Amino acid sequence: MNYPFWDIEIGYGLLMASIAIIHVFVSHFAIGGGLYLVVAEWMAVKKNDSQMLDYLQRMTKFFVLVTVVFGALTGVGIWFIIGLLNPAATEALIHHFVWAWAIEWTYFGIEIAAAILYFYGWKRMSSRDHQTIGWIYFGAAWMSLFVINGIVTFMLTPGEWLLTGVFWDGFFNPTFWSSLVLRTGVCVMLAGLFAQVVASRYGPSDFKGRIVRYNSGWALAGLAIVVPAFIWYISQIPSDITDTAREMMRLPMNSIGVSYWYAAAIGILLVIFGFLIPRRMNLLFASVMMLFGLAWFGSYEWFRESVRKPYVIQGYMYGNATEVANEEKYREEGYLPQMGYRTGDDGADLFRRACRSCHTIDGYHPLKPAYNGTETEFIAGTIRGAHVIKGNMPPFMGIEAEIQKLAEYIYVRMDSRSIAEIHSLYGKELGQKVYDLRCGKCHEFGGFNDKAESLVGLEDEDYHDLLDMAGDLAEEMPPFTGDTAEREALIEYLRSIPEGGN
Ligand code: HEC
Ligand code: HEC
Repeated sequence: MNYPFWDIEIGYGLLMASIAIIHVFVSHFAIGGGLYLVVAEWMAVKKNDSQMLDYLQRMTKFFVLVTVVFGALTGVGIWFIIGLLNPAATEALIHHFVWAWAIEWTYFGIEIAAAILYFYGWKRMSSRDHQTIGWIYFGAAWMSLFVINGIVTFMLTPGEWLLTGVFWDGFFNPTFWSSLVLRTGVCVMLAGLFAQVVASRYGPSDFKGRIVRYNSGWALAGLAIVVPAFIWYISQIPSDITDTAREMMRLPMNSIGVSYWYAAAIGILLVIFGFLIPRRMNLLFASVMMLFGLAWFGSYEWFRESVRKPYVIQGYMYGNATEVANEEKYREEGYLPQMGYRTGDDGADLFRRACRSCHTIDGYHPLKPAYNGTETEFIAGTIRGAHVIKGNMPPFMGIEAEIQKLAEYIYVRMDSRSIAEIHSLYGKELGQKVYDLRCGKCHEFGGFNDKAESLVGLEDEDYHDLLDMAGDLAEEMPPFTGDTAEREALIEYLRSIPEGGN
């Protein structure tokens, strides 16, 4: 908490995603595309295939524009954004990997210089020199992936590093190799899919058939690396991470299943349009395949980012930049004394540091729908139990007085009418809403931390008893603070659920 807090209205996650998605697509394409160009050039020179060389030269122009301009701009943009959004995590990554970054930037510099020379050198350099530049480009680009792969995988699976603090333990962490193979496959696949879009613009001809088949070979080869590497990668993630994710965040885990469908769709389309009827490849089909490829890759990246929650660096720093190692200090002294920059409004400062990196009051991941119509005491209870709410949130590690201040800060920004009035509900429907808001974040019927066994088929009296002592059932569970109407409605709802599930 040594840095000031950047207060903007946009959701942090959205801001990061919008720039990171473009960057990862372009940066992987930059590597695969480089390999594609030199390999194709080498073969075309050997066969003295001038048509192919023309095509490659044309592609180079586009390639260099996309990678150098977009890749470099978004790469710098990511540093800019993470530095603003999470300076503490950025600092940690720089601090622990300072030489890795220096090496990465050196490779990046070589990569950019080689890309420009390669573009400039077409028909100006001897083909041998030109190809050498191409190989230097690809080598440097892949090495920059090698280095950054160590740091990106570290964030999810720091492995032994958490105990030893040794650079190499963090760098060659449990998912390093599987992720490197996977990403290399993605590079090859994206190069083939992207080249297909360029090739699709040619009118039907033998030449078109030839390059479409060639491109399909690349994309399929990439896919053949990607699928087994992905299975390998998943198997290398420690099972406590995936088990928690399976329970707390079903969506990212389900996306793994969906990603296999994307992969199958790309494979089938490639065989049909790439090999059986290659001359018919048009911009639409090529773009659809490209989109499937990007969707596959996007769902992988999203999965990786999601299962890391509640951490930004697994086991080391939470998503809201609170450090695991400082837990004791926070629990004793609270968050406020640790903040280097305070505004004078403690509630607001606590909200920024504890919640604001993932929630807004009324915008991105808003708190209003969850808290409208509830009380300070209930809000305080959920802050105490933040880590047991579905969604895998960091614990609130501050002191009790801070929980109260934060709850008060949130409460005055919520709708203070009753839940019944806000949603115009009564009876069983009101009861269901009350359950969703006051219980359902932590206990889903038939799902997350299901309590049906204790909640279904009781007598009125038992329900009243249960709600009376709700606050005593667990430290992380808030008391029942709804009014009589809500209480009656909730009981009516619970009574209406048939035994053995609904
Ligand atoms: C690292 C990110 C992160 C932080 C920090 C965080 N949350 Fe969350 N929170 C989430 C995610 C993700 C969900 C699940 C959202 C969903 O399922 O739509 C969630 C869900 C919730 C919910 C349930 C909302 C619902 O509609 O299901 C509440 C209430 C909540 N958070 C309150 C808080 C409060 C209060 C704080 C600060 C003390 C906080 N959160 C800090 C990520 C975070
Ligand atoms: C902030 C999260 C949270 C909320 C909100 C919450 N609970 Fe709980 N509840 C817990 C935790 C944590 C436990 C104890 C550990 C466990 O069993 O998961 C628990 C335990 C229980 C138990 C005890 C189960 C048993 O068999 O001993 C019941 C019943 C229960 N909750 C019902 C409810 C009801 C009804 C509501 C809404 C009025 C509710 N809870 C709201 C977190 C919550």
